[in-house]
Amino acid sequence: MSDLRLSLTDRCNLRCFYCMPRTHYSWLAKADLLSFEEISSLVTLFLALGVRKLRLTGGEPLLRSELVKLVHLLASKPQLEDFALTTNGVELAPVAVSLKEAGLHRLNVSLDSLQPKRFEHISKRDSHRQVLLGIDTAAQAGFPKKLKLDTVVIRGFNDDELPALLQFANERNAEIRFIEYMDVAGALNWSWEQVVTQTEMLQHIEKSFGPTLPLEEAHAAPAKRYQLADGSTFGIIASASAPFCENCNRLRLSADGKLFPCLYASEGLDLKKELRAGKTHAQLQQRIASFWEQRREKGAEQRLLQENRKAFKTEKELLENPHLEMHKRGG
Ligand code: GTP
Ligand code: 5AD
Ligand code: SF4
Repeated sequence: MSDLRLSLTDRCNLRCFYCMPRTHYSWLAKADLLSFEEISSLVTLFLALGVRKLRLTGGEPLLRSELVKLVHLLASKPQLEDFALTTNGVELAPVAVSLKEAGLHRLNVSLDSLQPKRFEHISKRDSHRQVLLGIDTAAQAGFPKKLKLDTVVIRGFNDDELPALLQFANERNAEIRFIEYMDVAGALNWSWEQVVTQTEMLQHIEKSFGPTLPLEEAHAAPAKRYQLADGSTFGIIASASAPFCENCNRLRLSADGKLFPCLYASEGLDLKKELRAGKTHAQLQQRIASFWEQRREKGAEQRLLQENRKAFKTEKELLENPHLEMHKRGG
């Protein structure tokens, strides 16, 4: 275990159709969210158990109030080697510099289209201008590590924009990653036909920029990185067609303290309950360690073996167990 994704809220200010296609959702109650003190204690435990990489996520993590305070609190932990945050960028411009000053190392910002109308079609909100401003502000804020942009590529929606998005990222000295559309719980309208595989993506990109050179790296997952002739780099995250479960070293903690071993796992370990019941640090550490040792999930690989693959969960199943959804367990 070396990588912890920490969801700070299940709320989001966009409704990307590949993640939150419904009009109504149930939200976690405020009293159920882990407090900053609880988050800090748990992060200390995870660091003692070997975690070195921490990512704050959501829903949309910038919606969590007093986020900058939390970043400051966590950034001071000595064993933390990589401290990042994944955001949709809508609320980023006003806080980017404060996040950097509080000690965050880097940001991953989602950007599915350069066209405002398409952005609105995908996310159901008219926030494209704010996202672009957020990206530009982040690119200039002086974070110590490189800005990344994430594009979920969907056939018929944005698959003609790969070259333009790559160029946009290069102009901002950011690294873009093209992500295959995944059938995670929440993606109710998923179909194989809409997945643009990494092979196809590479073909699109090579048509515009010439040959791509795969970079050999020890820690490849989740993105496989490539270099273009001009030296610029980009990544492809092939979670649907070429899952990387074998090398997966990540855990995810929901905003209400449930620990999930996999994006696709149906059960989580309720750490908030144990913490609030007064378990000692040693007891909690023991619980987490044995949870990790017993972990057998390889969700994305198992999905690949499915015949007639359809959306992972139905709306009824999600209503019965909302924690299954990607936006609840740290998308
Ligand atoms: P870095 O490469 O460290 O910057 O982070 P990351 O790529 O893990 O984080 P990010 O939040 O930017 O996630 C990018 C994409 O990776 C997501 O859109 C998912 O498609 C995919 N992803 C994230 N977590 C998992 C996971 O646990 N399993 C699989 N199969 N894919 C994941
Ligand atoms: N397939 C691939 N990526 C997804 N994300 C959310 N839902 C899906 C999906 N169905 C991505 C977001 C963001 C990251 C945190 O997760 O676009 O980049
Ligand atoms: Fe879109 Fe991320 Fe919000 Fe899901 S959590 S709707 S992917 S911005």
